[in-house]
Amino acid sequence: MPGPKKKLYIRTFGCQMNVADSERMAQVLADDFVLTDKAEEADIYLINTCAIRRKSEEKVRSLLGSLKGLKQRRPQLILGVGGCVAQQEGDRLLGAAPHLDLVFGAHGIYRLPQLVSRAAAGERPVDVELSRCFPEAPRRRWESPPARTFVTIMQGCNNFCSFCVVPYVRGREYSREPSDIIGEIGEFLAAGGQEVTLLGQNVNSYGRGLMEPVTFPELLRRVAALPGLRRLRFATSHPRDLSPDLIAAYGELPALCEHLHLPVQSGSNRILQAMNRGYTREEYLDKAARLRQTRPDLALSTDLIVGFPGETEADFEQTLDLMRQAGFDQAFSFKYSPRPQTQAAAFSGQVPDEIKAERLSRLQTFQDDLTLKAHRRLVGKVREALVEGGSKRSPVELCGRLRTNQVVNFQGPQDLVGRLLMVEITEAHPHSLKGRRAVGPPLS
Ligand code: SAH
Ligand code: SF4
Ligand code: F3S
Repeated sequence: MPGPKKKLYIRTFGCQMNVADSERMAQVLADDFVLTDKAEEADIYLINTCAIRRKSEEKVRSLLGSLKGLKQRRPQLILGVGGCVAQQEGDRLLGAAPHLDLVFGAHGIYRLPQLVSRAAAGERPVDVELSRCFPEAPRRRWESPPARTFVTIMQGCNNFCSFCVVPYVRGREYSREPSDIIGEIGEFLAAGGQEVTLLGQNVNSYGRGLMEPVTFPELLRRVAALPGLRRLRFATSHPRDLSPDLIAAYGELPALCEHLHLPVQSGSNRILQAMNRGYTREEYLDKAARLRQTRPDLALSTDLIVGFPGETEADFEQTLDLMRQAGFDQAFSFKYSPRPQTQAAAFSGQVPDEIKAERLSRLQTFQDDLTLKAHRRLVGKVREALVEGGSKRSPVELCGRLRTNQVVNFQGPQDLVGRLLMVEITEAHPHSLKGRRAVGPPLS
């Protein structure tokens, strides 16, 4: 008779790819371990890490340091570090943290059961091997699926933007076979799922090297044709590879949500070139305009970096000007952080931190104003929301996501979680919306 399962705790940092990877970790260990949300009772504690900026890496190191006490209290605890910092640092992490038992990179996830056994036997395994294909994933189980899920369609990145560590920590780009993707989504929908986000570092270069060559817009068409799918999204796409065919898909596929996250990084052509992004501000704005011609209600969000090496006040003002012209609904903005191995870390003209901080704060104030204006335009409108959960503050408050990706809070019973319904937007705030449920039954 097998005994009760042991407990697994996972702390996740970083992007949606990491969130999806953490889910995989739980899944490959599911025969012997059950997830817990209490770190204190864990038999295995895994940290899934992010290396995108120095701050992300520092958070991991400080958490790791703070776990010495837990490991002393529970000597049998297996403490592991996975993800992008693990990939970047490898066995150096073992040297820096004597209480650490295990280090594994993006592709080591699928070897976790063996790695955990070796760690339990007193070895301190390090597995940062990157394979030359899309790693074979176990089938996901959907006893009671959430309303939305993320499906990884590709791994790695070949773009080598000069600031970015991802190609070094995630390896080369590999696409997943379309039949696997369709199979996984089909099962999710058959079990009652409604919304799917296709994930990859650069999804619109999907398809290279597949046995069955399929482009990203073709994949979207196939997924959108699956019965039961209400909403389709994807992240992240690169402006350079945003093809006319992908823009056309926005006109053809009603399930494809009218929201696109299209990271621009900078509004200065000089800086874009130094970043190795492969497009100009004019090309970016032209694509944004074409997208809006195809889907007039499209919401556009972006990522921006301030203080890239050599960025002058004039370059920075070009970024603000592009933000205004593009009319972003939302922007994630960061101070440039030099990363190991990347080209830009060695560029001359590194910008002092005070200037980066001052530009970031100006940029964020500017964007807050654009976001609030976009939110105000929604007041009085009735929009479809997928109820993602209850609010922590109140048992009668729900939180839903619009097709355009904004979050709306409104009153309603908890049994509406996971349903699609219509909500009238009543109040605009800088970071959220308030609404009330419109009359009529849920749509699903
Ligand atoms: N694959 C995505 C981006 C992944 S990283 C894409 O190409 O769009 C998410 C964001 O982090 C990037 O868009 C960028 O804005 C930011 N970022 C990446 N490297 C950075 C660095 N060295 N310093 C500051 N921000 C960075
Ligand atoms: Fe990084 Fe550029 Fe690849 Fe995005 S496209 S992951 S920013 S190298
Ligand atoms: Fe961070 Fe790795 Fe994602 S570096 S942003 S967790 S790909």
